[in-house]
Amino acid sequence: MVHSVTVQCPAMTINEPDNLFDSSQAPVRPFRFDADVARVFPDMVRRSVPGYAELVELSGLIARRIARPETCCYDLGCSLGAVTEAILHQTDSGVRVIAVDNSPAMIAGLGARLAERTDGERVTAVCADVETVPITDAALAVLNLTLQFIAPERRLDLLERIHAGLVQDGVLILAEKIQAPDDRGGHLLTALHEDFKRAQGYSDLAISRKRAALEQVLVPDRIEIHEQRLTAAGFTGFTRWYQSLNFVAWIAWN
Ligand SMILES: C[S@@+](CC[C@H](N)C(=O)[O-])C[C@H]1O[C@@H](n2cnc3c(N)ncnc32)[C@H](O)[C@@H]1O
Repeated sequence: MVHSVTVQCPAMTINEPDNLFDSSQAPVRPFRFDADVARVFPDMVRRSVPGYAELVELSGLIARRIARPETCCYDLGCSLGAVTEAILHQTDSGVRVIAVDNSPAMIAGLGARLAERTDGERVTAVCADVETVPITDAALAVLNLTLQFIAPERRLDLLERIHAGLVQDGVLILAEKIQAPDDRGGHLLTALHEDFKRAQGYSDLAISRKRAALEQVLVPDRIEIHEQRLTAAGFTGFTRWYQSLNFVAWIAWN
C-alpha cells in the first residue's frame, strides 16, 4: 500500500536559475536534494546532463509503448516529475503514475506542478524512500538518474525489488551517469562533459564546487557493473537505448 502525501506548497518557485555553487564564500557541504536545490532543479539538470530533455521525452515514448490502460508506472526518484509528466503526456488516461521521492521539497514542487495540470489526478505523489516503498504490478518502473544516489552495496537489492514488482511483460528504464573508463575515450567523455557545463554558463569555480559536493553522494558505476547487476537482479534481457557523453540509459525486461 502506498500513501499519497498532502502537498503544501508555500509560494515555492521552482524555475530559478542555478547559481548555488557560484560563490566561494561558504564551505562546500555534501549535496542534498533540499529546498534550495528544488528551486533551481529544472535549470540545474538541463545544464548539467547533456541531452536531459531528450532522455525524458524518450522515456515518455517508451511508456507509450509499454503501458496499457489501467496499468501503473513508477517514477522512482521523481524529483519535480519531469518523467512523470512525460508519461502523462504520452499515455492513455487510464494509466496511473506513482511518483516517489524522499525529498519533501521535491514532492512539494511536484505537487505544485501537478496542480496546474488537468490530468494531475492520475499521479500519486509519495514522499518515501525508493528502497522501501512497495512496488507492485508495475508495467514500467523508471530510475532516471536515481540509482547513482543509492549506496552501491544496496543497488542490487533495489533492482531485485523492482524486478519482483513488475508485471509479466513489465520493463525498467534505468538512466545513469556512468563512471567513464580510465582510458583515452573515457577521459575524452569526462572532459567533454566539463566543456558541456562550461558551454551552459557554469564557471570553473561552480563546476569544481559542485563536483566536491557530489563526491561520495553521487557514486557512478561502470557500464559493465550496471549490466551485470541487471542480469543478477533477474532481468532476462536489456538494451542500451541512449547515450550522451557519460550518461547512458537502458531498458531491461523480465
Ligand atoms: C537526479 S534526481 C532524479 C531526476 C529525476 N528522475 C528527473 O528525471 O528529473 C535524483 C532524485 O532522487 C531522489 N532520491 C535519492 N535517493 C532517494 C531515495 N533513497 N529514495 C527516494 N528518492 C531518492 C532525490 O531526492 C532526487 O530528487
